[in-house]
Order: sequence, then structure tokens, then C-alpha cells
Amino acid sequence: MTLFRPMPLALAALLTPALASAQPAAEGAAIFKQQCQMCHVNAKGARPAIAPNVFGVAGRKAGSTDFASYSPALKASGLVWNAANLDRFLTAPAKMVPGTRMVISIPDAKRRAAVVAYLQSLK
Ligand code: HEC
Repeated sequence: MTLFRPMPLALAALLTPALASAQPAAEGAAIFKQQCQMCHVNAKGARPAIAPNVFGVAGRKAGSTDFASYSPALKASGLVWNAANLDRFLTAPAKMVPGTRMVISIPDAKRRAAVVAYLQSLK
């Protein structure tokens, strides 16, 4: 038994980076469904209800869609949603933008990277 135990670990170590680089946006889409879609719409032209539409968010100025209920803090942040800023925001939104109404964070760096890749694919 002890002889076989290292095998799955070695296999996982070999396979994980390949899967991670091939699938981040797909994994991010699944996470978005679970943790973001109850608030955010993500289709071109979709009307925002309780959170801004994230279609085309990558490269956009924070708080710049026609969503009516942005916090003054996010609107005044001057941020542009590049990958690094999205990653920081999703790590701890209120730490990056005190006063933001976005309260969901993704503590796990790999899951966060997958969601950022997914957001960048929405264009
Ligand atoms: C409970 C509702 C809710 C959930 C769930 C939620 N958000 Fe948000 N999100 C908001 C609100 C409200 C805002 C606007 C914040 C503000 O104006 O300060 C926002 C803002 C954002 C913005 C900035 C948009 C812009 O136009 O500047 C991004 C990016 C974002 N959310 C990503 C996500 C992601 C990714 C998830 C899932 C991990 C998520 N949000 C989950 C409510 C939510």
C-alpha cells in the first residue's frame, strides 16, 4: 500500500498545471455560475438588476456602465479593470475599495485566476 501511495500525488502534480492552463476560463465560468450570477448579468446588452453587467469588464473603467446603483466609492476609484486589479478586487473588495457594495470575495488564488480569465473572455 505504502508503495502505491506516492503515485496519485505524482500524477496529480503532473496533470494539474496542464489542466489549469487549458481550462481556466471554463472553470471560471462554473464558479461564476455558483458565486456571481445570482447578482451579475454577463451577456452583451443584458440589463443589470442588482449588480453591474460584467460583459466587457476587462479593460473598462470601474463603475462606468449604466448600472444605476454603483457606490460613490467605486465610481470615484479611478480603477481600470485589468487582470491585476480584478484579482486584487476579488481577493478583498472592501479592502481595495472601501465603501464598495460588492462584498463577495474569492480567497483561493487559483479559483480567482480562473474567474478573472473567464471575465476577460466576456467580450
Ligand atoms: C450579492 C450580489 C453580488 C454578488 C454575489 C457578486 N457581486 Fe460583484 N458586484 C455587486 C455590486 C452591487 C457591485 C457594484 C459595487 C459598487 O458599486 O461598489 C459589484 C461590482 C463588481 C465588479 C465591478 C463592476 C464595474 O462595473 O465596475 C466586478 C468586476 C464584480 N462585481 C465581479 C464579481 C464576481 C467575479 C463575482 C463572483 C465571484 C461577484 N462580483 C459577485 C454585487 C455582487
